[in-house]
Amino acid sequence: KRDLETKYIGREIHYFSEVDSTNNMAKKLAEKGAEEGTMVIAETQSRGRGRRGKKWISPEGGIWMSTILRPHIPPADAPKLTLMTGVAVAKTLKKEFGLDVGIKWPNDILIGNKKVCGILTEANAKFNTVDYVVVGIGIDANVDTKIFPSEVVHLATSLKKELEEEIDRVKLVQSLSKIFEETYEEFKSGNFPDILNDWRNLSTTIGSYVEVRKRLGKIVRGEAIGITNTGALILELDDNTLRKVISGECIHIEK
Ligand code: BTN
Repeated sequence: KRDLETKYIGREIHYFSEVDSTNNMAKKLAEKGAEEGTMVIAETQSRGRGRRGKKWISPEGGIWMSTILRPHIPPADAPKLTLMTGVAVAKTLKKEFGLDVGIKWPNDILIGNKKVCGILTEANAKFNTVDYVVVGIGIDANVDTKIFPSEVVHLATSLKKELEEEIDRVKLVQSLSKIFEETYEEFKSGNFPDILNDWRNLSTTIGSYVEVRKRLGKIVRGEAIGITNTGALILELDDNTLRKVISGECIHIEK
């Protein structure tokens, strides 16, 4: 039925024409004991979720998918999987379409300065180890116009818009599953430093002057000079002090 070349990622796919959120559905399946690699894919989501409680508009033509992973790691290491996923998606878009994609911290996939994909990973822990992680990936594939209602900081694009033709979504999911599995295997064998290196090379944030908007309207500005191995951004502020930023909405600005 499918030309999947993976060992376990996407071996079981739950396909829906519409769900509230593929992440919600994947969580339900994980609670019921679904195996690692189980995937949920939907044509549309009525309540797609973005990071930081935002709504994620999910029209037909996009790729809205969530994958269940069951890594044996402490909860504090779960953000590593977000970085890992960003690397896998960026590599896939480069390989399949030769697109010049970049990763904007922490996990937006951009073409030029426009967002084409967002990632939402949600971990659930039991007795201080991760029980499961749901990795949600939203790719604006054959989507015409995308608006981010509450997201003022992003310009959006889609693969269709960039490539000026519709893409084969099934083929893209197959290719992504393969690269995702390879990257996850690398992660499990303890090679996270290599993945982080790939992340740094794909990132357009490192080396840029950025503004990070944190909760409660707090803003930090500085040059992004690195990332810690749990995914925090390291900024050099104008007074030359270093500041670690764990989360926030990041935009690249002129100094
Ligand atoms: C972001 O950039 O804010 C993250 C967006 C993540 C969207 C995907 S689409 C599939 C999965 N299901 C959801 O409800 N969200 C993620």
